[in-house]
Amino acid sequence: MKKFFAVIGDPIAHSMSPAMHNDLFQANEIDAHYLPLHVKGENLEAAVKGFKAIEIAGFNVTVPHKEAIIPLLDRIDPLAKAIGAVNTVVNENGELVGYNTDGSGYVEGLNRELDLIEDQKVLMIGAGGAARAIYFTMSKQGVKRIDICNRTVSKAEALIKECPYPVPSHALSIQEAEEALGEYDLIIQTTPKGMLPAIGELPISLHNLNSNAFVSDIIYNPLETKILRDAKKKGARIQNGLDMFVFQGALAFEKWTGIFPDTNRMKEIVLKQLGG
Ligand code: ATR
Repeated sequence: MKKFFAVIGDPIAHSMSPAMHNDLFQANEIDAHYLPLHVKGENLEAAVKGFKAIEIAGFNVTVPHKEAIIPLLDRIDPLAKAIGAVNTVVNENGELVGYNTDGSGYVEGLNRELDLIEDQKVLMIGAGGAARAIYFTMSKQGVKRIDICNRTVSKAEALIKECPYPVPSHALSIQEAEEALGEYDLIIQTTPKGMLPAIGELPISLHNLNSNAFVSDIIYNPLETKILRDAKKKGARIQNGLDMFVFQGALAFEKWTGIFPDTNRMKEIVLKQLGG
């Protein structure tokens, strides 16, 4: 029988996940289909009950349901529980089990570009939901140091306090981080600054950037944000957010099928969706 997968969110029309996963099902000769489904907050509980009734094989969860879905599922993976957000659900013998592959997808993508993540002195810019998933996942993995700078410093402080995995960390203002920027090996940009349409915006001044640093932005639209362009000019290595998107999808696909898919193929599909 054909297996059924979905992504739920509000809005959902522009999700690139259906094209990515349907291509993978075809390429791996799996009889399955993945649909984008528009679910409003007030209908989330009914949607989850419906998924159980029709024995859905798995689904992705996107904005704004990643937190609200948690009490509606049968079980939650410990890392997803700590992060407080679920983006991937697997039907395991009739039980809907929630995982978070956003942070692990980010780390998996970074691993392909950068050796020995554990030895890096990391600066994270931003303290929102994406920062939380990445920070908790990297802390669990055991990284030397991860400082967080944010427009609202108290939110960076709260993130550090709430993380259950011990890692040396300081909360910094943007200005403090700008002054100390030369000390960091890896800079991870998680704010919307630089995202379409605000493509001229910089979340932090790169004046003191070390030319040996690696600068990673989780934005993929545009593929090269101003911070990445400026970092490249200073000789730093860069990575855009396409890897995080593709690898969170690859890890979800692996949980559903047991197959780790061809991520280059996935990247091509997403690039096509983004308009080349
Ligand atoms: P997501 O869940 O996608 O990570 P979010 O929770 O809205 O998004 O988090 C956005 C992050 O970007 C936050 O760290 C936010 O800073 P505040 O905590 O001060 O709100 C940061 N951010 C958003 N817009 C910003 C702006 N114009 N300038 C600086 N930081 C900004």
